[in-house]
Amino acid sequence: MHHSTLLALFTSLTAVLAHPGPRPGGKRPHNHAVNAPTKCPIVFDGRIKSTAELSEFDSYGTSIFNPDYVKGQNLKWSQILKFPTDAGNSRFDNETHKPFEVTLSDQSIFQTQKGFRRAGLQFQGDTNTGSPGSTGVKTLHFSVKLDPARPLNLSHEYLNVWHEASDYSANQFNFETGTILGQTGLPKDTWKILNRQNKQIWSTPIDKAAWQNFAITIDYSKNTLQVYYSKGDDPLKSVTSAVSNNNAGAGQYQIGMLKKPTGTSDVVNSGYQSSRLNEGLIYGGLFLEDSAGGCVSL
Ligand SMILES: *[C@@H]1O[C@H](CO)[C@@H](O)[C@H](O)[C@H]1NC(C)=O
Ligand SMILES: *[C@@H]1O[C@H](CO)[C@@H](O)[C@H](O)[C@H]1NC(C)=O
Repeated sequence: MHHSTLLALFTSLTAVLAHPGPRPGGKRPHNHAVNAPTKCPIVFDGRIKSTAELSEFDSYGTSIFNPDYVKGQNLKWSQILKFPTDAGNSRFDNETHKPFEVTLSDQSIFQTQKGFRRAGLQFQGDTNTGSPGSTGVKTLHFSVKLDPARPLNLSHEYLNVWHEASDYSANQFNFETGTILGQTGLPKDTWKILNRQNKQIWSTPIDKAAWQNFAITIDYSKNTLQVYYSKGDDPLKSVTSAVSNNNAGAGQYQIGMLKKPTGTSDVVNSGYQSSRLNEGLIYGGLFLEDSAGGCVSL
């Protein structure tokens, strides 16, 4: 082949690579080509296959989560979860995954907890005691996005992601938003990470349109928490040092929504919740990885 022909071929190839054009299957809204691979062993994978159907979440044989908890008895997960079609994929979801939305309605009452409205996913295999999720060093990854059709009411306190000790006496950490009861000095329109004493260790403003990506490294031996964060497709960055926290007591992760009432000191059982609730939060890139040796997917 003549030298100039080779050069022309090389030039056009470079142009093609620099401008890859639409992907097969057409343009996906708000999505970008950059989806990050994970790099550490995955302990629990909460990423939803793009082929998944809602009915899979109703039984042990097909769900990656616990199909029976933590939700209103009269609701099935296939009624609680939605697959948003216009949210795009978050950083750690690739084309084999899709986001999911956890919703709240008036029926989101777990057992006799009439004060709360809640729907929380637990990873199947994350047992209350003896779980691999509660030993060593683990990093929980999750990305969240608001659904404009199912807005949250930030006059309330929402727990969205946490790890609850096996005796239910405390949560080792909480990822929350809204008005934290008893801490009204904190702005309501932020995502907040609170330690076991419910003291805020980091927060960031809610972005109404973008995916916001979080990771929390829980060192169960050294008793520390470290927070990582990014927006959109950006790589995660460490936003706190490894801060001291009591991570004892084993327990389980929970991912979803727990909306506390207002106007009561007994939040579990009483207080005010507006009726005809239709609220939701979109999740993606949910997984727990093994961070032994300092490994964290960024
Ligand atoms: C997508 O992520 C899965 C992990 O769930 C991985 O096995 C697969 O190789 C990834 N696919 C691409 C195209 O990167
Ligand atoms: C938000 O919550 C507050 C406190 O419960 C309530 O007074 C208000 O009506 C709610 N707003 C909406 C839009 O539901």
